[in-house]
Formats: sequence, C-alpha cells, structure tokens
Amino acid sequence: MLDFAIQTAREAGRLLAERFGRKIEISNKSEIDLVTESDLASERLIIDRINTYYPRHSILAEESGATEARDHDPQSDWRWIIDPLDGTTNYAHGYPCFCVSIGLAHHGKLELGVVYDPIRDEMFAAERGQGASLNGRRISVSRISSLSAALLCTGFPYDVRQRNEFAKHFASFIMHAQGVRRDGAAALDLAYVAAGRFDGFWEEGLKPWDVAAGVLLIEEAGGRVSDYYGAPFDIYSPPVVASNGLVHEQMMRVLTA
Ligand code: IPD
Ligand code: CA
Ligand code: CA
Repeated sequence: MLDFAIQTAREAGRLLAERFGRKIEISNKSEIDLVTESDLASERLIIDRINTYYPRHSILAEESGATEARDHDPQSDWRWIIDPLDGTTNYAHGYPCFCVSIGLAHHGKLELGVVYDPIRDEMFAAERGQGASLNGRRISVSRISSLSAALLCTGFPYDVRQRNEFAKHFASFIMHAQGVRRDGAAALDLAYVAAGRFDGFWEEGLKPWDVAAGVLLIEEAGGRVSDYYGAPFDIYSPPVVASNGLVHEQMMRVLTA
C-alpha cells in the first residue's frame, strides 16, 4: 500500500505542477480560505484510484469530506486521509510551496503517510515501524537541543483573526528561537521537521488531512508530536506541537506560559 500511496501522490502532484502558474478558477470557502479547480482535480484523481484499488476502504478528503466504502468491512476498517493540495493560498498566488498529503489509518491508527512536493520532486514517505524516507533515503529529525539554536515553523489557521493567543505565541517564539518561518503548507512543514530542516513546528486549528501523513513521518524519523501540554496527539483534535524531541519541552513551555 505504501507503493500505491507513493504512486498516487506522484500522479496528483504532477497534475498540480502541470496546472501551476496557469490562469485557474478560484473560489472562496470563507473570507481567506480558497479552493481552486486544481484542489478538486487532484482530489478526484486520488479518490478514483483508491476506489479502484481499495474499494473496501473509506476516505476522508478535504474537499469531499468523509465517505464510507460501499462494501465497507468494519473488521478491516482502513481509512485514507487526504489533502489533495496543501498550500492552496501559495498555489493560487504562484508561490511554489505546496504538496499532496496522503495518510492511511487502520482502526484509527496511522500506518503510512506520504507527502509529495512536485516542484522539488521530493517524496517523503513513512510506514509504521519502518522509518521515514525522502526519495528513498532514510531521514531523521535534527539534533538541535536548544530553542535559541532552533529553526521553527508555524502556520496561521484561516480563523487566525479570531485567535488572540496566536500572536502571543508567535511573538514569544520570535524572541526565543533562532528563526521562525511560515511557509503555508502544514503537511510539508511537518515533513521538513521529519527531515531535520526544521527543529519544531506548532499550529492551532489544523485538520486531520493537514497532519495525518506528517505526524507519522515525524514519529518514524525519531521526533515527537503532542498537544501543547504533552499529551499524545490526536489528528482529529488540534492544536499540535511537533519537534525533534529535544526542543519539545522548551516549545511547550512557551505555548503554555
Ligand atoms: C492550510 C495550510 C496552511 C495552514 C492552514 C491550512 P490548505 O491548508 O496547510 O499552512 O496554516 O491551517 O488549512 O487550505 O492550503 O490545504
Ligand atoms: Ca491543508
Ligand atoms: Ca488543501
């Protein structure tokens, strides 16, 4: 199934890259939350492939929501969790930072995850117990142990204007970390933590499709993912703090101060 997920993410990513920069149809889900025809086409491609190869599996996809398989078998109970285009705002502006994210859970437990960046042709993949890889090469989280030497990343949820705490956390991390980035594609941000490019990441208000694949990537790369208080992270209930493990407590201290 990992090969299937990799192949599917590659095809969806290729579709996104081919349309990238062209004039595209954009609509608004809310004041600042967009959806383009590429989100929809990528999601269609992924869902069609799953329905063809795994008709008994259910699907949770950003644009079409949850669908139970017609011949769903509660004994097996596999669920694909899909973000067909993570980084839609970037994409719509021609900013080349976006990805496809595909996770697979069995009885609610994540078993595999892939995040594909078609611009850099980078395929991040993980399978429970098998480690994480980037284009087939093993990856692991960074070894930075002090927040003052850490490069962090975050994202602004679409309802950021209603979240007063966010600005406080952001200001505090700017003061404590070596640097803070906001790239606009949460799944890719998490994959970068797994690859040791970022030392930590936090965000409020993410959805399961933003995090499913990335969380497994980080855990399989030796990192840690939790809520702001250190409890195990549940992909259906944000906020999230994800790190190399070494700066985790220091990040939690900032987030709960
Ligand atoms: C968004 C991106 C962004 C994050 C938002 C997400 P979308 O996903 O991951 O980085 O800050 O919270 O909703 O809408 O581009 O798939
Ligand atoms: Ca997303
Ligand atoms: Ca999306």
